Amino acid sequence: MEGLKILIIYSFLFCNIRTASTRDAISLGQSIREGETVVSASESFELGFFSPGKSKSRYLGIWFKKIATGTVTWVANRDAPLSDRSGVLSMSRRGNGTALVLLNSTNDVVWSSNIVSRAAQNPVAVLLESGNLVVKEKDGNDNDDPDHFLWQSFDYPSHTLLAGMKLGVNLVTGLNRLMSSWKSADDPARSEYTYGIDPSGVPQAMLKKGSTIRYRAGSWNGLHWTGMPQLQPNPVYTFEFVSNENEVFYRFKLINSSVPTMMVINTIGDVQRFTWMEHTKKWGLFARFSGTILDHCNIHSDSPDCECLEGFEPKSPGDWYMLDKSGGCGRKTPLNCKHGDGFLKLKTVKVPDTRYAQVDKNIILLECKELCSRNCSCTAYANSDVRGGGSGCLLWFHDLIDIKVLPEIGQDIYVRMAASELGKIERRKQQRKAKQVTIIITSILLATGVILLGAIVYIWKKKHRNYGKTDDRQELYSNEKGSSKEEMELPIFDWKTIVDATDNFSEENKLGEGGFGPVYKGMLIEGQEIAVKRLSKSSGQGVEEFKNEALLIAKLQHRNLVKLLGCCTQRDERVLVYEYLPNKSLDYFIFDTTRSKVLDWQNRCHIIGGIARGLLYLHHDSRLRIIHRDLKASNVLLDNEMNPKISDFGMARAFGLDQTEANTNRVVGTYGYMSPEYAIDGLFSVKSDVFSFGVLVLEIVSGKRNRGFYHADHRHNLLGHAWQLWIQDRPAELIDKSLYDSCSLSEAIRCIQVGLLCVQQIPEDRPNMLSVVLMLSGERSLPQPKQPGFFTERNLPESESSSSKQNLSSTNEISFSMLEAR
Ligand SMILES: *[C@@H]1O[C@H](CO)[C@@H](O)[C@H](O)[C@H]1NC(C)=O
Ligand SMILES: *[C@@H]1O[C@H](CO)[C@@H](O)[C@H](O)[C@H]1NC(C)=O
Ligand SMILES: *[C@@H]1O[C@H](CO)[C@@H](O)[C@H](O)[C@H]1NC(C)=O
Ligand SMILES: *[C@@H]1O[C@H](CO)[C@@H](O)[C@H](O)[C@H]1NC(C)=O
Repeated sequence: MEGLKILIIYSFLFCNIRTASTRDAISLGQSIREGETVVSASESFELGFFSPGKSKSRYLGIWFKKIATGTVTWVANRDAPLSDRSGVLSMSRRGNGTALVLLNSTNDVVWSSNIVSRAAQNPVAVLLESGNLVVKEKDGNDNDDPDHFLWQSFDYPSHTLLAGMKLGVNLVTGLNRLMSSWKSADDPARSEYTYGIDPSGVPQAMLKKGSTIRYRAGSWNGLHWTGMPQLQPNPVYTFEFVSNENEVFYRFKLINSSVPTMMVINTIGDVQRFTWMEHTKKWGLFARFSGTILDHCNIHSDSPDCECLEGFEPKSPGDWYMLDKSGGCGRKTPLNCKHGDGFLKLKTVKVPDTRYAQVDKNIILLECKELCSRNCSCTAYANSDVRGGGSGCLLWFHDLIDIKVLPEIGQDIYVRMAASELGKIERRKQQRKAKQVTIIITSILLATGVILLGAIVYIWKKKHRNYGKTDDRQELYSNEKGSSKEEMELPIFDWKTIVDATDNFSEENKLGEGGFGPVYKGMLIEGQEIAVKRLSKSSGQGVEEFKNEALLIAKLQHRNLVKLLGCCTQRDERVLVYEYLPNKSLDYFIFDTTRSKVLDWQNRCHIIGGIARGLLYLHHDSRLRIIHRDLKASNVLLDNEMNPKISDFGMARAFGLDQTEANTNRVVGTYGYMSPEYAIDGLFSVKSDVFSFGVLVLEIVSGKRNRGFYHADHRHNLLGHAWQLWIQDRPAELIDKSLYDSCSLSEAIRCIQVGLLCVQQIPEDRPNMLSVVLMLSGERSLPQPKQPGFFTERNLPESESSSSKQNLSSTNEISFSMLEAR
């Protein structure tokens, strides 16, 4: 009795410093129960009993103690919860060995570590600084060698991978260390999502749901997973991949132990990397990839819009164009091994699934090619290690599944092709080259003609000087000079053909009114449907835009840009002929309560992605750097599969590749989509298009127009509304109600975040389209957005209000040109 009293006083006295119930080890015969914990040496981690979230069940687990108290990293009895607070963890003899066992109130074993079969003399369980609970020989000299512990929790990961933990397989014992997600925030039981290393064939990192692959990071290429080039040396952690006959694993180590980082697989199967941020005292999300989208399809590039590689075609084209791509692609020309096949080189890809591939690390690429061409069932080869210019040999013997062309760095692969197919591909290349050569010759021959034309244009220009300022024109013509050869590639339609096709521009065929004149639907005699844009004679400035558009768009080819088929001029008539897109424009759907149901979340994601890729092409990948300057919902047309196509290049400007910003006195564009620096100062750059894109993304997700947005609580426009919701941590409220059934919340929030990043006030803060595309695909972590520009309509400059009256009242936004006195 006396002894007990003293103990209670003792614990009272010291409870502020260290509760009497913590210990640093459990020796044989000792145990801990509710209220008692085991703490690592400098109190980084703690082991004890807890209940997650709203759950009443008790679990034995490990969590961060010093920082982020309560962040659970490991759970022992995740599949066998204790129903009350009577659990006891003890170190005891089991059979002829020793084990850590967790007993419930009826003394039944709920969980136990594997029996330590070695006749341990004095086993002791200790929680290490790394968060690893280990059983080791108390006085052993193998104390901290992870390969010599009698047992360790690091061998049985829950949903968290901490620094020093191996993710992978011990090929000798068969032990597979996988991360597996909790069922819910209240239930740490194993769910179906796992992330780990699949050792079959050439080992790959894979995110699976049950046995289905959801995401394949791919094989290790010496530097990183082939599909994850963003895994780069960084200031927070180092990483390694080991693959030998005994084991295959990935592991990372902290560079500075006071800046911890961890990987977590969450309940919806997203793998996320968090790093502790001391200044905010929070875990910052630094990278993630998703298990919610099945990112795995047959021979293709640029998933999720799978495409067949050159020389391949969809096996069942009907399904393919209905977006069911599970049938995959087949060869246009079958292989013919005896008569010699060749190889087509594909650059910067994520190499295909290697579960059935073979590797030889000791040979060079030339020997690899030799091996592959000698074996008729070999379908492709590549270097297995890309370091130092490449070494080693990977060989595929099956269908090539899940090839992805990466926007940045990737590795090269050589795909087997029938010689005749290679010939065709080569011929197409040659033709493209030959065309260029003839064009050059022709253009020399026509040089005098061009000079003459120049003179005529000059005179004509003088006559029309009163339309717009000349600086715009000069820039246009200087671009024109370098590219006059392409101009000739544009097919010229006969005036009569156009008149016949549109039934002499009849009212019935009128589709609408563009910025510079009416647009008609037409049908050529061959049955092809076309859209005909007729420049209205009254619009003087339109002549400029007409030439501009014809010149620019003729040079652009991308599936997310509307295709110009040709042009036609007759006296003072000017006509552009486009492919006809039956599904009208995006604004027709998203802003209408009934029609918006047609575009479910998948469609909208696809549309956002398509617009982003179209813009990426304009900004970075086309031969000219092109700024569209009038991106908006009504300029995004939809084809019959709801693929988005950017249209209306009347205001687009070509930049030199080294030019990043320009100034104009003539501000053209549409209010609601214009960035502040452009609307106010006439400064435009790729970042002004990014702003418009951001507005468009927020409009697509919310189904509301930025301009004319009304909310009872405030006077902000859509951007301001989105921003308010964002900073109040309620972004989900922005999502269009008609999307509730089809929407993936995490994807929608990602889109909102990308949208907000794009509309940030300062152009330099906005991401470029390359980053946007990566962010949308979930392959890049997202920074926190800063305050958007123009989030209240009222901060527009005074001068514009008069010239935009028509826009204020009109719901059908019309592009305008503004001549500003400077
Ligand atoms: C432990 O006992 C089992 C049988 O009970 C025996 O097969 C095994 O060899 C023993 N292991 C050691 C390490 O003594
Ligand atoms: C203890 O565990 C055993 C075996 O799992 C179970 O049958 C028993 O009901 C548990 N006792 C309590 C009080 O939960
Ligand atoms: C480790 O990080 C802490 C906190 O950010 C910092 O104070 C310390 O200087 C860093 N140590 C080293 C060696 O970089
Ligand atoms: C081609 O390679 C496969 C896979 O290694 C092998 O099974 C087959 O025997 C080889 N064929 C020939 C003709 O060498």
